[in-house]
Amino acid sequence: MSERPKILVTQKIPADAYSLLHSIGEVEANMDEGVIWSSEELLRRAPSHDYLLCLLTDTIDARVLEACASATPRLKLVANMAVGYNNIDVKAATRQQIMVSNTPGVLSDTTADLAFSLLLATARRVPEAERFLRAGKFTGWGPLLFCGAEVHGSTLGIIGAGRIGQLMAKRAGGFDMHVRYYNTRRLPADIEASYRLTYVELEELLRQSDFVSLHVPYAPTTHHLIGERELALMKSSAILINTARGPVVDEKALVHALQSGRIAGAGLDVFEHEPAVEPELLSMENVVLVPHIASASFKTRTRMAMMAAENIVAHVQGQRPPNQVNG
Ligand code: DGY
Repeated sequence: MSERPKILVTQKIPADAYSLLHSIGEVEANMDEGVIWSSEELLRRAPSHDYLLCLLTDTIDARVLEACASATPRLKLVANMAVGYNNIDVKAATRQQIMVSNTPGVLSDTTADLAFSLLLATARRVPEAERFLRAGKFTGWGPLLFCGAEVHGSTLGIIGAGRIGQLMAKRAGGFDMHVRYYNTRRLPADIEASYRLTYVELEELLRQSDFVSLHVPYAPTTHHLIGERELALMKSSAILINTARGPVVDEKALVHALQSGRIAGAGLDVFEHEPAVEPELLSMENVVLVPHIASASFKTRTRMAMMAAENIVAHVQGQRPPNQVNG
């Protein structure tokens, strides 16, 4: 590549990553924090670039990819600043010979931290109790005031025991929890032993667990993995935690299960039609809701942005992007 490559960055990202990209190319960036470019905006801007650094809120569909593949310069790589890449039509990218990369590993601990804090907050009703206190309703200690579910010694069911699921199990170990897991492939015995994980089939996991935490990627096979039938199998005292992807849960079925007392609560970081949230969830006291912040620590977001940028740098330098997910 004789000219400096043109790089498009779709949202404001940590500064270190800009510095790295500026050192190797001409960078056009959306600097309006909180402004997400529409598909039309992406279609207008992306085709004049060699590289695209995007976020999970950008829909990189076949239309955008086809336009980028037939333009000059030709788009070479879509570097997603996320481990999940369901916002990108990877098949269409592969057809157009455009590489796609993600940011695995660097956010696993931080995501497990948030998943576990949602579990604690929901079980012990922390946000609800805080709202109560801030409203001036605390008139004194009460034997039944904000009693919740016990975490230590209870059973956690992990659905999807990849990096993040395993780190969730590690945290649960510190609370003397009994950890069951379900995965499409059973883990090697040494990993099961080191995280004290017991493999069970999905239905067993749902029946046995006091807490069910989701850690699967979103794909057609995991769409509504937790629906009415699965929720009906759970204990009426159980709490569901989702830091994976919203559409893994049938949100309407979840609302019904919570309203009818079919399950006791939910801690949710992700939503089926994000950023929209089922209105009923907003008024329920037994759910804890946060706006997709599982990886949101300063260090982790910097590591993610750097990793996405490093994938671009690798390609500019003639190497295979280290986190390429297609081809
Ligand atoms: C990811 O990287 O997929 C996460 O959802 C971002 O927090």
